[in-house]
Amino acid sequence: MGVDWHLPRRPRGHRNRALSKTKLLARSPAYDIDAIRRRIPSLERFIFMNNCSQAPQMDLTRDAAEAYLESWGRDGMDWDRWIGEVEGARAAFAQLIKADPQDVAVCTSVSQATSSVASVFDFAKGRRKIVATEGEFPTVGQVWKAQESRGATVEWIPARSGMIPLEGYQGKLDEDTQIVSACHAYYQSGFKQDIPAITGLAREVGALIYVDAYQSLGTGPIDVREWDVDFLASGSLKFLMGMPGIAFLYVKPSLAERLEPTVTGWFGRADPYSFDPRDTSWAPGARRLETGTPPVLESFVGRAAMEYLQGVGLEPIGHWNKELSQALVTGGEARGLTLLGIADPECKTPTTAFLVPGDPHEVEGKMKERGVLATARGPAIRLAPHFYSTLEDVEMALDVLIDVLRGPA
Ligand SMILES: Cc1ncc(COP(=O)(O)O)c(C=O)c1O
Repeated sequence: MGVDWHLPRRPRGHRNRALSKTKLLARSPAYDIDAIRRRIPSLERFIFMNNCSQAPQMDLTRDAAEAYLESWGRDGMDWDRWIGEVEGARAAFAQLIKADPQDVAVCTSVSQATSSVASVFDFAKGRRKIVATEGEFPTVGQVWKAQESRGATVEWIPARSGMIPLEGYQGKLDEDTQIVSACHAYYQSGFKQDIPAITGLAREVGALIYVDAYQSLGTGPIDVREWDVDFLASGSLKFLMGMPGIAFLYVKPSLAERLEPTVTGWFGRADPYSFDPRDTSWAPGARRLETGTPPVLESFVGRAAMEYLQGVGLEPIGHWNKELSQALVTGGEARGLTLLGIADPECKTPTTAFLVPGDPHEVEGKMKERGVLATARGPAIRLAPHFYSTLEDVEMALDVLIDVLRGPA
C-alpha cells in the first residue's frame, strides 16, 4: 500500500530542505502508516524522536489505562480480571520474543528483574566473576557492581565511540565467569551487540548470559530460543509503546527450576495465596523470580501496546525501522553531523546519536520548543523514531537539529 501525503504540523522555524515527495512515496512501510499515525493524537503537535526514552501515547494505550480506572472506580476491586490482564501482558511479551508464557516473569522494573537474577548466585562459594559491558544501562551495571559485597568481581567490556566491539570480550571470560551481562542495544547510540556470538563465548567457559533488550525490543523481531540466552529483560515504555512501572524477565526453562532467588516475595511462591509466612515453595518456571503484587494498570497498557505491535507485525516494523535508521545516518552525514556509533542499519536500532557541541540538554530543550522531541545522553543528541515515523519526520528533525546548532541567524 502507498503512504498518503499527510504531514504533522511543521515545527516552528522549520524550512524543508532535503526531501522530495517522489522520494518519500518510493519508500514506504508495508503497513498502513497513516492509520497508525491517527492513533497517536500528539503527532499533531510533535515529531517524536524519543522512543529510546518514552513512547508516545496511543489512543489504545489511553483506552487501556481508562479501562483499569473504570474497573477500579466501578467495582472497587476485581482481582480476577486484573490478574487476567497481568497474564495477558505476560503472554503478549512471550509471543513477542517467541517464548512460552511460563518462561516469563512479570516484574516492576529491569532493575528489579536484574536484582532477582543476581540474587540466585552464591558468589562466595561458586564462580565469582560477572562480565558486564560498559554499555549496560547504568542500573544494570550498578546491580552487578553491588554484588561485590556478596563476593563477586565485575570485569568490564569496554564501550568506545558508541560501540561495544566484540573483540573487547577477548580474554575476559574464563572458568570463573558466572554470568555475562550484554545489552542487546546500547542506550546511547542504538548499536546492537551480536548476541549469538557473545552467547557462544559464554558457553565456551560454561557461563550464563543475561541480555537487557530494553532498547531493541519492539524495533524488529527477536527469537529468544534461537539466541539460546539464559535471561532476557525489557521494560515497556520505549519501543514497546507502553508506560513505566512494568518489566518482563525471560528465563530459559531448563534453568528456571534450579534457581532460588533471595530477592523474592509472595508472587514467587507456588501458591501466592497460601498466606503462610514460612512458605518456601517455588512457583513454576520463571514466576519464581517474581516478588510482590504485580503492576496492574501497567499490564492493561503494556498488553494493549504489545498486542497492537504484534498485529502490525515485527517483521515489517523491523524493515521500516531500518529505512528510518538509514535516512537518519545519511541525512545527518549530508548535513555535516558527526554520528556517535555505527552507521550500518543492520547493526543498530533506529536510535541514531549525533555528537553536539556544548550542552546536549540545552539542544534537547530548544528542539522541543520547535516541536521535535529528542533526548540528550552523554555528549550526544539521540533521534529515535519508530514504526509510525515518516521519512519526512526524519528530515524535519534533522533540519531542526541543524537550526538549533546554528543558533539565531
Ligand atoms: C537499556 C535499558 N535498560 C534499563 C533501563 C531502566 O530500567 P528500569 O528503570 O526499568 O530499571 C533503561 C532505561 O532507560 C534502558 O534504556
